[in-house]
Amino acid sequence: MKTVLVKTGRPYEVLIEHGILDRSGEIIAAQRAQQLLDFDYSEGELIAPGKVCIVTDKNVEALYLEETRVSFRAGGFDVCNFVIDGGEYSKTMEVANSLISFLAEMGFTRTDLVVALGGGVVGDLAGFAASMYMRGIDYVQIPTTVLAAVDSSVGGKTAVNLPEGKNLAGSFHQPIKVIIDPGVFDTLPSDIYNQGLAESIKAGMIADRFLFEGFELGSFDIEDVIAKSVAIKSRIVSEDEKEHGVRTLLNLGHTIAHAIEKASAYEIAHGDAVAIGLYTVTKATGAKKLCERVYRTLSLNGLPWACDIPADEILAQIALDKKRRGDEIRLVIPIRIGECEIREYSLEDAKAFLAKGLE
Ligand SMILES: NC(=O)c1ccc[n+]([C@@H]2O[C@H](COP(=O)([O-])OP(=O)(O)OC[C@H]3O[C@@H](n4cnc5c(N)ncnc54)[C@H](O)[C@@H]3O)[C@@H](O)[C@H]2O)c1
Repeated sequence: MKTVLVKTGRPYEVLIEHGILDRSGEIIAAQRAQQLLDFDYSEGELIAPGKVCIVTDKNVEALYLEETRVSFRAGGFDVCNFVIDGGEYSKTMEVANSLISFLAEMGFTRTDLVVALGGGVVGDLAGFAASMYMRGIDYVQIPTTVLAAVDSSVGGKTAVNLPEGKNLAGSFHQPIKVIIDPGVFDTLPSDIYNQGLAESIKAGMIADRFLFEGFELGSFDIEDVIAKSVAIKSRIVSEDEKEHGVRTLLNLGHTIAHAIEKASAYEIAHGDAVAIGLYTVTKATGAKKLCERVYRTLSLNGLPWACDIPADEILAQIALDKKRRGDEIRLVIPIRIGECEIREYSLEDAKAFLAKGLE
């Protein structure tokens, strides 16, 4: 088993192992019993095993819900589930609200648990509901897409989309554990599998040229890719949990990505939008060789580098980016593979800069 420790305010482990899904409930039951022993919770609070609400979407329900339920029941939990339709359109305040009401109807208390079993949509939504319910209850991430495994399940950013823009309502709420079973990726359609690679290529561009070069050569081991990507994210998040500084680096390509998602009415998936964002921002720097390497790497891994939405429609969405501070916007600029820097632009200058990448 590969283990990565995320050293946030309350540290937690990311466990990566083939077949671990079957043991997920028992692992969490053991952790809760240990928390009790460690007096992590105030004396007299019974935290093990309690109730669990497994949040998932319809596709994942058919594939992995029963196995997960069995494991949590074996861990002694009283299990219920909340199944959403799935897709970006389910990541809304309305769906989060129904989930929060469901927890209340089922009598969940502060010591009960939410489990997010699914991709980034389920993880962001379930984490958001867990952070809101009773001012925050524990949750576990069990990512079932590559994107959720390499990125969204780690770091504690939770969110829902508003009609006005992507991830505009959210919170920082770290999970108590992340359990990754790479075996579940076998059922992913190839496009969804590849979309996850975009976030890992991003991690390589930010901090690990060897990780990037694996993608560039088309030769990598997925378990290794997950462990390396999570380690990079963990290091950055441990240093800057609430994104006051260095965590901004993780937004490489994301200003354009979020704008594209919104401009396409979420027809373009997040991972594909990130891939286009990585290429666009690299092209905007005018560094031809770097741009060529990014283009080749994205193409080789089945990812897009452009879309047919007009540049002005994409740029118009940037004004709504939540990373904007007043009239300033922070962009992450690739310097070389494995190194990026954060630069502040006025909104107009940021648009002019990114327009060069969209030409
Ligand atoms: N919180 C963060 O830090 C963070 C970081 C990056 C992305 N995100 C968010 O993540 C979301 C995208 O996540 P995603 O790409 O995982 O999309 P997703 O959650 O919509 O999943 C994609 C599709 O794959 C299906 N699926 C999931 N697991 C499967 C499996 N094992 N086998 C077969 N089908 C499966 C789902 O049902 C869905 O249809 C976006 O909303 C994005 O904003 C959040």
